[in-house]
Amino acid sequence: MSSTPNCWQVCEACGLRYAELDRRDSCQCGSLLEIAYDDLTIPPAELRRRFDERCAAPPGTQSGVWRYAEFLPPVETEAIVSFPEGNTPLVASRAVSEWVGCAALRLKHEGLNPSGSFKDRGMTVAITQARRMGATAVACASTGNTAASLAAYAALAGLPAVVIVPAGRVALGKLTQTVAFGARTIAVKGDFDACLTLLQQAAKRTGLYIVNSVNPYRVEGQKTIAIELLHQLGWNPPDWIVLPAGNLGNTAALGKAIAELHRAGLLASKPRILAVQAAGAAPFAKAFAEGFARRYAVHPDTVATAIRIGQPASWDRAVRAILGSGGAVIAVEDSEILEAKAVVDGAGIGCEPASAAAVAGLRRAVLDGLVKPSERAVAVLTGHVLKDPEIVAWYHTEFEAAPRRNAMIEVQPVLDAVLKAIDRAIQGA
Ligand code: F0G
Repeated sequence: MSSTPNCWQVCEACGLRYAELDRRDSCQCGSLLEIAYDDLTIPPAELRRRFDERCAAPPGTQSGVWRYAEFLPPVETEAIVSFPEGNTPLVASRAVSEWVGCAALRLKHEGLNPSGSFKDRGMTVAITQARRMGATAVACASTGNTAASLAAYAALAGLPAVVIVPAGRVALGKLTQTVAFGARTIAVKGDFDACLTLLQQAAKRTGLYIVNSVNPYRVEGQKTIAIELLHQLGWNPPDWIVLPAGNLGNTAALGKAIAELHRAGLLASKPRILAVQAAGAAPFAKAFAEGFARRYAVHPDTVATAIRIGQPASWDRAVRAILGSGGAVIAVEDSEILEAKAVVDGAGIGCEPASAAAVAGLRRAVLDGLVKPSERAVAVLTGHVLKDPEIVAWYHTEFEAAPRRNAMIEVQPVLDAVLKAIDRAIQGA
């Protein structure tokens, strides 16, 4: 696309530059790479006009990622691997707002992407670039969603895919998608952090192209969560954008998006990022509480398996994102995550446990006085309710103390029994 600026890869630590289509997974100094662009010289009014105009494409044909081409690598339209993705709604729910204590809350439902999570936004860019680079096979380590997304996009592109997952720790919906879409799946008896380290070592020997969020092109695509939600709000930023944080790729992407949009003159003020971790996997929240004086690693444990991560890979980028936006990092208990999930599910919206961490985190931040009830907030629901059906079944049937339990009523096949059950159901409502 001629309207987009040139880009290259640059080391975050030593500043060394690499060509756009250099296939390395890190700098020679070992640090992560990020994508840098020529200065954007298009005036904000013209950018807004272009983005609005592209929304007028026939329904279902326009990608909610590639619409924002001016903030992405310059790719010829024919090379793009897209379902399309994005175009996710900003939902207002009185039930969720009341529970959280924040009247002006919107939920950005990224679970409505093609593979059911926000990962598709980064994956369309990473797989497009992988094909342009001539990669012969693509791979990721994953707690499940990246694997499902990679499997879908690699299949669409006709590229072989390999995923490494922590054995026994991936939610059923995610594993089902990954296997069904044809990715070869290796289950390692260890946690996500071990899977990523092993993949990075294996990639050096095999030439696999890694599309985890350590891949700078994944970050570029994920920026569009923020760009699209700000577009939906008429470029009138909320006070806070709240998201769950695990490996910290998404936190980094959000920070990069806000900085670039602000530099391009599209935002009058910067929304603050509130990153939320599960208390059993909260090294980043712990470091934030101490002013990011040091880096922590923990043995992760939480019901939110998507963010069951103890050594986040995008640490330094995420620190910049939080500090650059005047943001904050907090942790919430599994009990708070489960209740938030039941509230979001019960509102007819639905999300997976990790996504509910964002909603639980916002509630905690309001209770603790960090966020004022009158402030405007957008919480990102990162994954679909069907990603993790087992937790729903467990919560509503086995977890007897569940505050919002909705157990099925089993009866004999006779009308009297059905009528009694209906009576009980209605009285209980
Ligand atoms: N929410 C969901 C549903 C996720 O799947 C993830 C990460 C996150 C939040 C956290 O995002 O890692 O960028 O801080 N899932 C990765 C995966 C790790 O492999 O699917 P993050």
